[in-house]
Amino acid sequence: MSYETISTSKEGHLGVITLNRPEALNALNTKMVTELIGALSEFEKDEEVRCLVIAGSEKAFSAGADIKEMAEITAIQMAMTGHFFPLWEKVGKYPKPIVAALSGFVLGGGLELAMSCDVLIASETTQLGQPEIDIGVMPGGGGTQRLSRTVGKYKAMEMVLTGKRIGAEEAKALGLVSRVVPKEAYLSEAKKVASEIASKSPVAVRLAKMAVNKAFEMGLADGLDFERELFYLLFASEDKVEGMKAFTEKRKPEFKGK
Ligand code: CAA
Repeated sequence: MSYETISTSKEGHLGVITLNRPEALNALNTKMVTELIGALSEFEKDEEVRCLVIAGSEKAFSAGADIKEMAEITAIQMAMTGHFFPLWEKVGKYPKPIVAALSGFVLGGGLELAMSCDVLIASETTQLGQPEIDIGVMPGGGGTQRLSRTVGKYKAMEMVLTGKRIGAEEAKALGLVSRVVPKEAYLSEAKKVASEIASKSPVAVRLAKMAVNKAFEMGLADGLDFERELFYLLFASEDKVEGMKAFTEKRKPEFKGK
């Protein structure tokens, strides 16, 4: 598939999506949202692809929703089209793991996109924020919910109510990104982490991702029950037999996703 606002590639078991609107610091417009949904759907169907990487450029992962486009949108148009909501739905419920390769500006909808991913790797130049308050609105892509659950109420309040950005090291201390690396290495590091995930059993990875996500939706007792059901289910997989056999035979397992 060829796209205008993003590019995609396949590298072994990885599906790589690169946001590509440098003239607007990768601001998310309708075209990009539609193309992102298309690329995510393609990689979802592709059985060879086990893990995704979403990246922007070194200067900007994404500066958020396209303000120039949004300036023209009415409340009714927004409600009738859902605007970006199909993207948030798609990424939020994506069955395969997604590693976000962050650098430069990660703002507004860009941060919300990143927070819908599963592992966030940041270059030392990354600046993260929810600046919607500066343009008279508020986060609308899950920012108030995902940020609060990650960094806690008071830091989330400060970020959402002042629009102030934080740097990569602070984001790491807050648990918002898992690793900070030199700017030359953010993409290679993200691909390295994604390749490591892709080398595991795709069945176990998928269910483990579901279980961790449920921790943010369920109470502890229900979450533990849910986890146990998935754990039992994995004992029916060929990958479980292969993984444990390979361990006893002192060799690397060959997982097939079955
Ligand atoms: N939408 C549309 N265009 C954007 C944009 C955005 N979010 N962010 C940057 N651009 C454009 C600029 O208009 C500029 O284009 P022109 O050269 O044609 O004027 C180009 O990208 C480069 O930007 P700047 O000249 O402003 O670059 P800078 O280095 O001086 O500043 C910045 C960078 C601090 C990120 C600044 O561009 C900025 O504040 N951008 C807006 C960030 C923002 O408010 N994001 C939230 C959007 S709302 C949202 O995301 C809602 C939601 O929850 C879904």
